[in-house]
Amino acid sequence: MGRVAVIGAGAVGTALANALRGGGLDVVVGVRSPAERGQATVAEAIADAATVVVAIPGAGVEAFAAEHGPALAGRLVLDATNDLGAGHAGAMHHMDAWASHAPGAVVCRAFNTVGHENVSAPRFSDGVADLFWCGPESARKEAERVISATGLRPVWVGGPEAADVLDGIARLWFTMAFAREHGRHLAFRMLGGAPGA
Ligand SMILES: NC(=O)c1ccc[n+]([C@@H]2O[C@H](COP(=O)([O-])OP(=O)(O)OC[C@H]3O[C@@H](n4cnc5c(N)ncnc54)[C@H](OP(=O)(O)O)[C@@H]3O)[C@@H](O)[C@H]2O)c1
Repeated sequence: MGRVAVIGAGAVGTALANALRGGGLDVVVGVRSPAERGQATVAEAIADAATVVVAIPGAGVEAFAAEHGPALAGRLVLDATNDLGAGHAGAMHHMDAWASHAPGAVVCRAFNTVGHENVSAPRFSDGVADLFWCGPESARKEAERVISATGLRPVWVGGPEAADVLDGIARLWFTMAFAREHGRHLAFRMLGGAPGA
């Protein structure tokens, strides 16, 4: 099993790094100014990793993909970012930027549909939260191994073209957490369906 690089040490990056380590994975955190044990520069973290989880501000994704695209070739990328620059109704993902700058990477959208608290605490009194994600079907085994390590149950929504659907789930989360005031420890669960499908 390869190493996981988590890029960004903010709320999401920290929650994911802790959860993935708790799940037994080998994790390095890539940051612009490494200061702590377990941190490396972004380039070093990517170079050592099979999977790269991107947890930086959404507005920085295009530049990040342009800078690191070549190094990401052959690696699994789990993009957890949301770009709210165009407002909640606009696209929150940058799948076009990934496709043009990092054509050799296997890019998925994951961890962007729930607040970071739910990565840290995926168990609820009525069950484990689902983590809806999308990306190439060929990446399912590895992506779901990483997602499962956090304790969340992965649910594959479809290929990269399903990124808009995931944006919709993120919108639902924002609406229920904030507009409907249910709070941030809130996640979704798919009932029924064929296990493993
Ligand atoms: N907060 C949530 O609950 C939540 C949930 C789902 C998705 N998201 C999305 O996840 C992403 C991260 O959110 P967050 O709440 O963790 O943000 P955050 O707390 O502001 O942390 C962002 C991190 O990214 C780093 N960073 C910024 N630009 C970078 C670059 N070009 N290269 C490398 N590192 C860079 C920052 O480090 P520096 O010190 O170097 O600036 C910081 O550690 C956002 O896109 C957000 O929309 C957030």
